[in-house]
Amino acid sequence: MNNDIMTGLFKPKSIAVVGASATPGKIGYTVLKNLIDSQYTGKIYPINPTADEILGIKAYASVMDVPGEIDAAAITVPAKLTLQVTEECGKKGIKGLIIITSGFSEVGNHELEEQIVETAKRYGSRILGPNIVGVLSNADHMNASFAPFLPMVGKAALISQSGALLIAMDAASYTRKVGFDKLVSIGNMSDVDFADIISCLNDDENTSCITLYIEGIRDGRKFMDACKNATKPIIALKSGTSSHGAAAAASHTGSLAGAAKVYGAAFKQSGIIQASDLNNLFDRTQALSLQPPMNGDNLLIITNGGGVGVLATDAAERDGIPLKFAPKEVQDEMKKHMPEFGSAKNPVDLTGMAGTEWYTESVQFALDHSWVDGLVVLYCETAMTNPIEIAKGIKRAVDAAKTKDKPIVVSAVGGEKSDAAIQWLLENGIPAYNSPEVAINAMAALREQAKAKITVAEKFKPYGDYDKETALKVIKKAREDGRESLTEIEAKQIFEAYGLPTTKGLLAKSEAEAVEFAKKIGYPVVMKIVSPEILHKSDAGGVKVNIKDDAAAREAYNVILANAKNYKSDANIHGILVQEMAPWGTEVILGSINDATFGPTMMFGLGGIFVEVLKDVTFRVSPVSENQALIMLDEIRGAPILAGVRGEAPRDKEAMANAVCRYSSMILDLKDEISESDANPVLVYEKGKGIKIVDARVILKKK
Ligand code: ACO
Repeated sequence: MNNDIMTGLFKPKSIAVVGASATPGKIGYTVLKNLIDSQYTGKIYPINPTADEILGIKAYASVMDVPGEIDAAAITVPAKLTLQVTEECGKKGIKGLIIITSGFSEVGNHELEEQIVETAKRYGSRILGPNIVGVLSNADHMNASFAPFLPMVGKAALISQSGALLIAMDAASYTRKVGFDKLVSIGNMSDVDFADIISCLNDDENTSCITLYIEGIRDGRKFMDACKNATKPIIALKSGTSSHGAAAAASHTGSLAGAAKVYGAAFKQSGIIQASDLNNLFDRTQALSLQPPMNGDNLLIITNGGGVGVLATDAAERDGIPLKFAPKEVQDEMKKHMPEFGSAKNPVDLTGMAGTEWYTESVQFALDHSWVDGLVVLYCETAMTNPIEIAKGIKRAVDAAKTKDKPIVVSAVGGEKSDAAIQWLLENGIPAYNSPEVAINAMAALREQAKAKITVAEKFKPYGDYDKETALKVIKKAREDGRESLTEIEAKQIFEAYGLPTTKGLLAKSEAEAVEFAKKIGYPVVMKIVSPEILHKSDAGGVKVNIKDDAAAREAYNVILANAKNYKSDANIHGILVQEMAPWGTEVILGSINDATFGPTMMFGLGGIFVEVLKDVTFRVSPVSENQALIMLDEIRGAPILAGVRGEAPRDKEAMANAVCRYSSMILDLKDEISESDANPVLVYEKGKGIKIVDARVILKKK
């Protein structure tokens, strides 16, 4: 399949421009002219019903009239003609259709889009688009688009869901000096999608980094699989951070999940490096396409200025690669290339006296030293140095170093001469920026790349003790009652079936039963209303805690019942849950949504009644491996609370991580049934003492 996409869309040996025009200003004219101007070496066939030749090339009335094979067709006829053209291209055996034409699903014309896809499928042709700018490839001198020219030569490949942004990035590649081999406009993704192109470009010898601009993905799981299987770095900028329409707010998780969070989680799990904005996408792409990953945590900074050194140190901590002092032997060597008042620790400050030689010698030594995993070289323009000479010195060191698998990134701060040095370095394969923070962030991308490889190699191992049958029985019973909202008791039965520990409880239907059950469970107890119509029990006055004796149990029973009736007079009340009062523990939340793009998705965070105020939560697409679960526990702001603060013993993170994995299995297993769920609060006890789910909520999918 990759082969068809590669030959049909990215490396065709012949292209028909269907809708080629001799009229300047028409897209059919521009695409044909662009192919000629980019010196495309394959055969070009203009297709036009009336012309004999266009721009000096013989034209044909239809692809069917062309003698010999055609690999690709760039289609620039109006939408209403595309179905007939697709049919003809199929008959001709054309593998790839680059449909530039607009006027399909993006304006609600889904039917025509489905028809062209169905027609192409019948003939085994693949469609890129419709509603695209086209495809540009430096390696094949192919500008099959209406973007003005091929981008600056390089090894990155951009796949963009915005045509206008692709055109802008094409031009900006020259001013920003970020080289691309391919630019691919993906448009409506009626057939070929991100996943297909990523798999294809992963096999492309001219691509070293895959850069994505994403507005929305349809098949999240397919996308994740393609990214996980890719060996090349993938960087993505996702636009649209407003919350998902699909996430209704019946649960805490539903109200806290948003597109940005779920996409962010999916990106992390698929080994995708993220860009925070357009500039960041360029800057990080530059490093990822030119340098190897940073395979360890030891970052060394060499500078001639203390100020930029401190700025870089701050940035390194912010970006997840905090500095450590270099070992003695590195410091001893560095001291040879600085005056006495320099600093050999880290950052290595060669001082303003540093000339080209000191830079060259220290850079070469650092690259070859086993302690150093990544090197950032900072330079401030001084009156005593010539920036271009410093740049050339750095390059000499890179060439002379025996180690070739370590990343280096440069920052040069100054005027025009420094800018010229940056350009020179870029032309010579060394990422260079005009600020220390940007250089550090680019290096952080290379560190993230190395970590991403480890993440995607993790395999999820489900525990073998799930009781799906019991869970389905509980769900079936609720559906038979015509309910989509489970009671707390039912939700806990499902959780228990997946090995998640919940508080013990019994459902009392009378005052006498309430007392009997309270005695059985043992005082103190908690009593709660059980009604499918009352989801927010506390709001309804439906919860009483710390009930210590029979009299209090009787009173609680009657008060809760009265409150519930007051809250919702027609509520269907199943009874009152008498529950063990779990000892205090750190309150966290587990939850899930069934995301429209990525399916079952987990949430973990600080729990209790302030969940939606604190919003200290993190997400992962299910299933979640134990290692990812531990990372989730560590990445919320409140992580120190779990580690044990102010003399408190550390919490049982292993048991909590285990619960995250089980929960993620549960929502994946029951993805056709469960729409949203919460376990809140979950009490986390001291290390070795486990966890307990105190309250549970499950909302079923509508059927
Ligand atoms: N086979 C081949 N050529 C044909 C056929 C046929 N069956 N029928 C007609 N043609 C020729 C026409 O005769 C014409 O050539 P001519 O100038 O010699 O007469 C040529 O195809 C183009 O047809 P027109 O009717 O002139 O269409 P026009 O060029 O005005 O528009 C276009 C066609 C560009 C595809 C338009 O419908 C469209 O979709 N424009 C938007 C494209 C776009 O922006 N896409 C990217 C979106 S991303 C972004 O926004 C940046």
